[in-house]
Amino acid sequence: MIQLRDVNHHICSVDGDLEILKAITLQIDAGETVAITGSSGSGKTTLLGMLAGLDIPTSGEIVVEGSNLTTMNEDQRALFRAKSVGFVFQSFHLLDALTALENVLLPLELAGNNQGEAEAKAFLEQVGLSHRLKHYPSQLSGGEQQRVAIARAFAAKPQYLFADEPTGNLDQATGSHIIDLLFDLNRQHKTTLVLVTHEPRLASLCRRQIVIENGQIISDKKSELSDV
Ligand SMILES: Nc1ncnc2c1ncn2[C@@H]1O[C@H](COP(=O)(O)OP(=O)(O)OP(=O)(O)O)[C@@H](O)[C@H]1O
Ligand SMILES: [Mg+2]
Repeated sequence: MIQLRDVNHHICSVDGDLEILKAITLQIDAGETVAITGSSGSGKTTLLGMLAGLDIPTSGEIVVEGSNLTTMNEDQRALFRAKSVGFVFQSFHLLDALTALENVLLPLELAGNNQGEAEAKAFLEQVGLSHRLKHYPSQLSGGEQQRVAIARAFAAKPQYLFADEPTGNLDQATGSHIIDLLFDLNRQHKTTLVLVTHEPRLASLCRRQIVIENGQIISDKKSELSDV
């Protein structure tokens, strides 16, 4: 379970003090599927980064399984992320000096698994990239980089998976396949999924839909439909 209690986030920019997140109070239960939608610049990526322990807010608390991320130091949060979190970034964040396979192997190695090559290959095969194992990110298309990022996020079988527009660069068929993989992970491993998306179809597959505008939650609904 992830709890956000009165989370506010400010950034000092050249335009002055910007309020990016305002008074966000939210609880996400284990195994939930949650879509976060809202217009560009509304704060979705910032919120996702907070939920995943990548960043800490200006004020308020973020508590995951009873551990307070907001009082941990950077090393403790890094350990929490390595153990429990998979993250698919909007801009992929692949390591340029590593091949596709090495990028996917990295979280396995960080989790202490040095025998992960077959597993990493299997994940890349699942996202349709077994023919691109030795390519570097600069040699991959945007959609291919996105799929490597997804395979990497899956690799350590995280308890929480956060994905920022995971299908944003994919054609319909590839996107549908990736969505199936995400929800398979939720069903098979009870992975909690939190997805930022502009796609109504993907949002509607999640059990819960949160809408954020101007840094505030303006709607938080659970659908009657079961997770697909
Ligand atoms: N480091 C920063 N410095 C200044 N402003 C920032 C910074 N990070 C984010 N912002 C601003 O905060 C707001 C929210 O950004 P965020 O990336 O969370 O939006 P988003 O909802 O994910 O948008 P998109 O749908 O375009 O990805 C934006 O207006 C952005 O310009
Ligand atoms: Mg964003």
